[in-house]
Amino acid sequence: MNPITHAQLDWDDQGRPHSRVFDDVYFSDQSGLEETRYVFLEQNRLQARFAALPAGGRLVIGETGFGTGLNFLCAWQLFDQQAVAGARLHFVSVEKYPLSHTDLQRALALWPELQPYAEQLLGQYIAIHQGFQRLVLDNGRVTLTLLIGDALEQLPQLDAQIDAWFLDGFAPAKNPDMWTAELFAELARLAAPGSTISTFTSTGWVRRLINAAGFKMKRTPGIGHKWEILRGEFLGWPEDRPAPARAKPWFARPVPVTGDRHAMVIG
Ligand SMILES: C[S@@+](CC[C@H](N)C(=O)[O-])C[C@H]1O[C@@H](n2cnc3c(N)ncnc32)[C@H](O)[C@@H]1O
Repeated sequence: MNPITHAQLDWDDQGRPHSRVFDDVYFSDQSGLEETRYVFLEQNRLQARFAALPAGGRLVIGETGFGTGLNFLCAWQLFDQQAVAGARLHFVSVEKYPLSHTDLQRALALWPELQPYAEQLLGQYIAIHQGFQRLVLDNGRVTLTLLIGDALEQLPQLDAQIDAWFLDGFAPAKNPDMWTAELFAELARLAAPGSTISTFTSTGWVRRLINAAGFKMKRTPGIGHKWEILRGEFLGWPEDRPAPARAKPWFARPVPVTGDRHAMVIG
């Protein structure tokens, strides 16, 4: 198994982390919490969608760039406030340079209102390794699947139906690898019908590439330093390019089993 490379951070005088490799911030230096809520939770209409989940219902969020987990904790807090007891949240996030436990703890200490959630996350954020790992939180009501490694190496191994995408891979000019046509094709392959998507950037070439993958992106007023941001929804695969499930039979999902099922436990 490949050893992982942890994030290399510098900390500003307010205690906020800054990536040495990408020379960029993990969240806004004005109000990280407000921006996360506006850019990712509001643009994906998560308050209403969490509130509308029936008991036994589930919403799946996918994210590019787990970083400090701020987006995850904000989504979990909103889910906790809005969803009925029997509903579930599944959050899937890909991260090439995971924070060490010590750095994660230091970064999350910035948000006292998220502490009950942060403590649970920190309790499970151990032995983080290359590949997929599943963290079961809140007695199974919330699941976090971390895909540790390069997004373009990890996402093709995922089979999921993502209801809302958060694109948060540092600024496109500083990290173009997280904003490529190949990566957006993976987001489209994994998108559930009616999937929504948002990101803090409004860069024209990013918008055009996401549109070309089958999403319909719109510019919308920004927050803080951001004049405009992008939100959109999945329309389906472009007609000139079939969905992978149709093009390659090995991507097809098995037919769901209905009726009684049996399991034998040996030992
Ligand atoms: C802006 S930060 C994410 C902030 C995060 N969502 C949060 O709530 O703190 C961008 C993240 O993308 C990760 N990243 C950059 N390039 C990547 C790649 N090629 N594959 C996977 N993750 C990558 C960085 O290590 C960083 O953690």
